[in-house]
Amino acid sequence: MESKKSTSRDGESHTNPPANSKLFPISALIFFISILIYRYSSFGPFAPFQCQLIGIGCLSTKVQGYIAPEFINVKKAFITNFENGDEVGSSVAVYYNGKLVVDLQGGYADLETMRGFDNNTLQPVFSCTKVLAAIVIACLVDRGILDYNEKISTYWPEFAQGNKENVTLLDLVNHRAGVSYLDKVVKSDIEDLDKLAKILAAQPHSFGGVPNRAYHPVTYGWYLNEVVRRVDPKHRTIGKIVSEEILTQYDLEFYLLLPTNLISRVAKFYETPTVKAFFESFGVFSSWWAGKVPGSFFTEFNNKESVAYKTFNCLYPLSSAVTDYSKLEIVTIEWPSANGITNAKSIAKLGAIIVNNGQPLHDDSSSSSSSASSKSLLSKSIVDLISTKLPATFDHVLYTNITPSFGGFVYIRFPGIEDVEFVGWGGYGGSLFIWNRELGISFGYANNGLRTPIFGEISDRRTWSILKEVVNVVKKLKREQA
Ligand SMILES: *[C@@H]1O[C@H](CO)[C@@H](O)[C@H](O)[C@H]1NC(C)=O
Ligand SMILES: *[C@@H]1O[C@H](CO)[C@@H](O)[C@H](O)[C@H]1NC(C)=O
Repeated sequence: MESKKSTSRDGESHTNPPANSKLFPISALIFFISILIYRYSSFGPFAPFQCQLIGIGCLSTKVQGYIAPEFINVKKAFITNFENGDEVGSSVAVYYNGKLVVDLQGGYADLETMRGFDNNTLQPVFSCTKVLAAIVIACLVDRGILDYNEKISTYWPEFAQGNKENVTLLDLVNHRAGVSYLDKVVKSDIEDLDKLAKILAAQPHSFGGVPNRAYHPVTYGWYLNEVVRRVDPKHRTIGKIVSEEILTQYDLEFYLLLPTNLISRVAKFYETPTVKAFFESFGVFSSWWAGKVPGSFFTEFNNKESVAYKTFNCLYPLSSAVTDYSKLEIVTIEWPSANGITNAKSIAKLGAIIVNNGQPLHDDSSSSSSSASSKSLLSKSIVDLISTKLPATFDHVLYTNITPSFGGFVYIRFPGIEDVEFVGWGGYGGSLFIWNRELGISFGYANNGLRTPIFGEISDRRTWSILKEVVNVVKKLKREQA
């Protein structure tokens, strides 16, 4: 070996083969590690580690449910999310022109017991709950019990404290009531609605009475709930009205007060692992680099006196662990901001009723359709009113421009289908409750693999890819009809 090496070094000093033969394994190793890092950073967060790294030990993809033949590409996109490690368990449903065309479920509701995520699974959907709360408000406006232009203090005189005397119902449904956080609230306050009402009323307006939009992630449903309790002849909460007047009538499962016997059907939550969340947080920096995140975002979120800081600091009043939000002790506390429990089909069906101008759907594929109501949920004029687009405005908590709709929803565009505007809202970790009246689409997505939200994003790439296929199919069907 010695002599061979020295011979070749002597003979061919310009090509230097021994150095090359050392460099080769090093560059191969660097290449191999780069591939692993690339795979790990681009692969979805919920697959087992060795699956993310080298494609071994991945969970088998279980997807079931109904798909209309024209919408087969939607199912492919849904399955791809599982194959990419982007899902634990989820359900997606679409109504098109009042017909259920997609109703799929896949993955696992519980990875410990390997309970499948299927048509029996119920899923907490965080802020998608606000859409249901806003729909209940619209129902009460429709019945003449509430008026969007009325001051909250008309219904609830004690609310007129701390510069809140001029806040209207329209302000409150659109997150302009100046009450995006509570200075102090503990779990026992939340369980006693009379005690909670006093705390809510005492909270001063965070902009001295100026109706700036500042998303109310936590307080939204509680303030609306107190207004409803005051005006409802039977002093019911939003959750009680939903369970007495909406769920059976329209054959929906969307609980604001989960009957305790249904807890075994609720999926467990899984959060993005910290290392993955770190990789994904580069998205914020690239958005900032691209000029999509204002520089002041970072200073606001570090300023303990800012509305944004205070709001984000009271995000989880019932427990600091997001994974607790599917547990019995939390799902049985009424919180019409963020703990509704449902499935994609119920979300999409409720959206389809709105798309159908508030009228019940006639094509009901479910077995219990005979019990379904023929009564309208909302009148067409109220659906027109709540859909009315309001001017885009800066949101001091979400720190981005938002285009609200009159009824408290938001107009949203999604990557890849920017020409289509949906209305509705999403929930922490990815759930989505949206519709588009012109295209006749309503879309529901409910998931237990929580993706860490990136600045300014409603939902994430899982629903974007599915939604894109839905829009493509609907556009094709429309072209064929024309
Ligand atoms: C739920 O799924 C099972 C198995 O796929 C099926 O037999 C059943 O009919 C479904 N139930 C409903 C209400 O769709
Ligand atoms: C409420 O409206 C009245 C009448 O316009 C005005 O005088 C008062 O300053 C307003 N209050 C606040 C807190 O903005």
